[in-house]
Amino acid sequence: MVTGAAGALGTDLVRVLTASGERFSAFTRADLDIADGAAVEAAVKEWADGTDEPRVLLNAAAFTAVDLAETDPDAARAAYAVNTEAPGLLAAACARHGARLVHVSTDYVFDGRGPDGPPGTGYEPDDPTGARSVYGRTKEAGEQRVRDALDAHHVVRTAWVYGDTGSNFVATMARLAAQRDTLDVVDDQYGSPTWSADLAAALVDLGRSDAPAGTLHATGGGATTWCGFARAVFEELGADPQRVRGCTTDQFPRPAPRPAWSVLSPAAWSAAGLEPLHDWREALHAAVTRHPALLGR
Ligand SMILES: NC(=O)c1ccc[n+]([C@@H]2O[C@H](COP(=O)([O-])OP(=O)(O)OC[C@H]3O[C@@H](n4cnc5c(N)ncnc54)[C@H](OP(=O)(O)O)[C@@H]3O)[C@@H](O)[C@H]2O)c1
Repeated sequence: MVTGAAGALGTDLVRVLTASGERFSAFTRADLDIADGAAVEAAVKEWADGTDEPRVLLNAAAFTAVDLAETDPDAARAAYAVNTEAPGLLAAACARHGARLVHVSTDYVFDGRGPDGPPGTGYEPDDPTGARSVYGRTKEAGEQRVRDALDAHHVVRTAWVYGDTGSNFVATMARLAAQRDTLDVVDDQYGSPTWSADLAAALVDLGRSDAPAGTLHATGGGATTWCGFARAVFEELGADPQRVRGCTTDQFPRPAPRPAWSVLSPAAWSAAGLEPLHDWREALHAAVTRHPALLGR
C-alpha cells in the first residue's frame, strides 16, 4: 500500500511497483487523507483484508512546504497533523492489521551542525536529533509516533529529493540557466541529492527484505553543495558550470533554517544487507536522460 502516491516519491513508488508486477493499492491525497484516523483505519483494513502476507505500507505522504510551515500558523498546524499525528495513525493501523510500515523522514530532524561539525562524516541513524525548523520538528515527532505504535517499522530518512513531478531543484536550475547569465547558489550547505526513482526502488527493496526494524538513512551516494548540484545541472545542459557562482547561506535568507550539514551515512543501510543508492552525480545523469523535461527539453 502506498500513501502520498501523487507526490515526487509516491509517483516513483507507483512506477517501481507497477514495473515489477507487484500487486498494490496506491492512495493519493484525494483518495486518502492520512490525517483522518477513521479513513486511515478503513483503508488499511480493506487493503489488509484483501491482501496475502506480507503486507507493507509505504508512506510517502507529508506536508513538505518547509518555509510556509515556519511562517504560517495554519500551515504549521497542517504540518503537525500530517507529519506528526498521521504517521502515528498509520502505524497504529498497521499494528492492528499485521502490516509493516516504511515511513519516510528527513535530514531536517538533525540540527545540521554535523556529528563532528562540517565538513565531517555523515550522520548515523542513532546520532542525536535536534530539528531547528517547524517542519523538522513535526517530522522528528512523527518518527517517534511510528516507533511508539508499531514494532515492525522502518523509519527511512532521506534528503535533497528531486523527481520529475512538481517543482524541484533540477528543473528550477535548468529554467534559470535559460533566463540568466549568472546564478548565485548557496555553497556552504552540504548534502546528497537523491533521485526519487532511486529512492523508490530502494524503499521497495527494503519492504521486501528481512532487514531488522529501526531507523535507516537512504540518499544518493556522495555529497556536494547546492552550488555543486547546480553546476552539475549546467553540465548536463551543456552550459558553462562557472556561470553558477557560490554564495553563502547568509546571502540567501529563508524563513526556515536550512541544515548546513545534511549528509546521512549509508553505513546502517548497507549493514542491513541493502544495496546503496547510486552516486548522486550518476543518478542525475540517469534522471535527465530518462526525463529530458527536467532540463526543459
Ligand atoms: N523533497 C525533499 O527534498 C525531501 C527531503 C527529505 C525528506 N523528504 C521526505 O520524503 C517524503 C516524500 O516527499 P516528496 O518529496 O515526495 O514530497 P511531495 O512531492 O510534496 O509529496 C508529498 C505528497 O503527500 C501528499 N499529502 C500531503 N498531505 C497529505 C494528507 N493529509 N494525506 C495524504 N497525502 C498528503 C501531498 O499532496 P498535495 O500535493 O496535494 O499536498 C503530496 O502528493 C516525505 O516524507 C518528505 O518529508 C523529502
